[in-house]
Amino acid sequence: MFKKEDYTSQYGSKEFWNEIYTKELEIFTDSDVTPKKDGVQKYIINWLLHQYKNNRDIHIIDLGCGAGAFLFDLAINGFGTLIGIDYSRNAVALTNSVIQKKSYDMYCIELDLTNVMECKRLGIFDIVHDKGTFDDISQRTENTKEMQRMYLKTVRNLMSKESIFIITSFCWTEDELVQLLSKQFVKDCKIPITGKFSKDINKLVTILVFRVK
Ligand SMILES: C[S@@+](CC[C@H](N)C(=O)[O-])C[C@H]1O[C@@H](n2cnc3c(N)ncnc32)[C@H](O)[C@@H]1O
Repeated sequence: MFKKEDYTSQYGSKEFWNEIYTKELEIFTDSDVTPKKDGVQKYIINWLLHQYKNNRDIHIIDLGCGAGAFLFDLAINGFGTLIGIDYSRNAVALTNSVIQKKSYDMYCIELDLTNVMECKRLGIFDIVHDKGTFDDISQRTENTKEMQRMYLKTVRNLMSKESIFIITSFCWTEDELVQLLSKQFVKDCKIPITGKFSKDINKLVTILVFRVK
């Protein structure tokens, strides 16, 4: 029987992402610096704006930040102390190019999030954010379960009892995510996707907020 845990694809490889971001990096040098908007991201940003309306000076880390779109959106909306992590050298170069050109007060580091010891040195954050990165790790061709375990250990190490972990998944359902994270995390709430196409989109995307157990 087909099991999602056994599903693997090209998305789980560093080479794949390096290639994607190399192309973006090439385009970037010839274009103006306009952070890309992302359809799902706006629901998370709106939720955060509502939750943190009185204090946006919080520490946020974006795990697998890619080209930095989420971080730039946070900066534009007045959130402070922002860090992005990605293991793709080209993603980090791309993000840092925008940071430099826009003079954003944040930084982006090249790091493998399954390297638990290295990541522990990053410290503790109020918000740990993941959009598509746990999905990506779940689609690795080798050691998938072990890599998921190491990644979740990193997430746990970046959190205190007050921190939240916001995860957006395009491949796991709500029940599956709750189960996969159940050893160390407990579901706090779901960030709803609202609007005209919400019924269809909610079937494809899950955005959950977790706390440590
Ligand atoms: C699906 S993309 C999402 C990018 C970004 N979060 C977004 O929503 O646009 C997944 C990202 O996770 C990064 N990634 C995957 N596994 C990683 C790992 N073990 N350590 C650090 N970054 C990783 C990839 O390089 C890629 O940029």
